[in-house]
Amino acid sequence: MKVISILNHKGGTGKTTTTVNLGKALAMQNKKVLVIDVDSQSNLSQHVGVEEAQETIYEALCGKKSLPVIDLGDNLHIVPANIDLAGADEELKKNVNGYFKLKTALSNIHENYDFILIDCPPSLDILTINALIASDEVIIPTQSQYFSIRGLQTIFELIEELKQNLNPDLKIRGILLTQVNNTVINKTIQDTVYEGYGDLVFKTFVRQNIALTEASYSNQSIFEYNPKSQGAEDYLNLSKEILHG
Ligand SMILES: Nc1ncnc2c1ncn2[C@@H]1O[C@H](COP(=O)(O)OP(=O)(O)OP(=O)(O)O)[C@@H](O)[C@H]1O
Ligand SMILES: [Mg+2]
Repeated sequence: MKVISILNHKGGTGKTTTTVNLGKALAMQNKKVLVIDVDSQSNLSQHVGVEEAQETIYEALCGKKSLPVIDLGDNLHIVPANIDLAGADEELKKNVNGYFKLKTALSNIHENYDFILIDCPPSLDILTINALIASDEVIIPTQSQYFSIRGLQTIFELIEELKQNLNPDLKIRGILLTQVNNTVINKTIQDTVYEGYGDLVFKTFVRQNIALTEASYSNQSIFEYNPKSQGAEDYLNLSKEILHG
């Protein structure tokens, strides 16, 4: 069993797209998968078609309820979020155990799954820290753009800080290059990432592919929307790299 945070404080780097499609790819290979929406934008919940959940992660983090798990079928499950989660920050800060709420909530159910993927918000707030404390590993989706690469250092520093104290075993599973295209600047930055971070970068990268966006609008994973697309090929390869190295 592995809990993996999909993390980048920069917006729009492919966190939610990766959570949905990596989750589905692992589920298709007979792994029991839970995806968790820890973002008040609730894009993950919308992507899988859970728009109006009655119970969400908010009640589990800020109240006394257990995590509400919805079975999506075919080995895939979700804990949804909605806009209520925007109020969690303040609630959690008032609580002495506020940073450990997700870890505690997961302890009752994590044995039911092979993989738990947590879709983090685009910030390094208390919800993100909850995700990182509950996690074994971190995947960092990154666009091949100059400012995205500069932001990686901030993430590494946060992870180092957490390792010193709150979660000593936290591991970076990999940097995932997303929205990769054939432009020269994009290629140059890719090379810089592979040179600078070496083995920390997944061999698999995700090419820019409009089908991934279209799939999100049709509330499907890329494997349902267009199994022959480049996006499907790339996320299947990523899942294999994670399962088999
Ligand atoms: N490989 C790709 N090719 C083309 N479009 C992509 C790709 N990956 C993601 N996108 C699109 O880019 C946008 C941002 O992706 P996504 O929502 O996954 O990022 P995010 O990191 O979760 O964003 P946020 O920080 O707001 O949570 C979406 O419209 C998504 O469909
Ligand atoms: Mg997102």
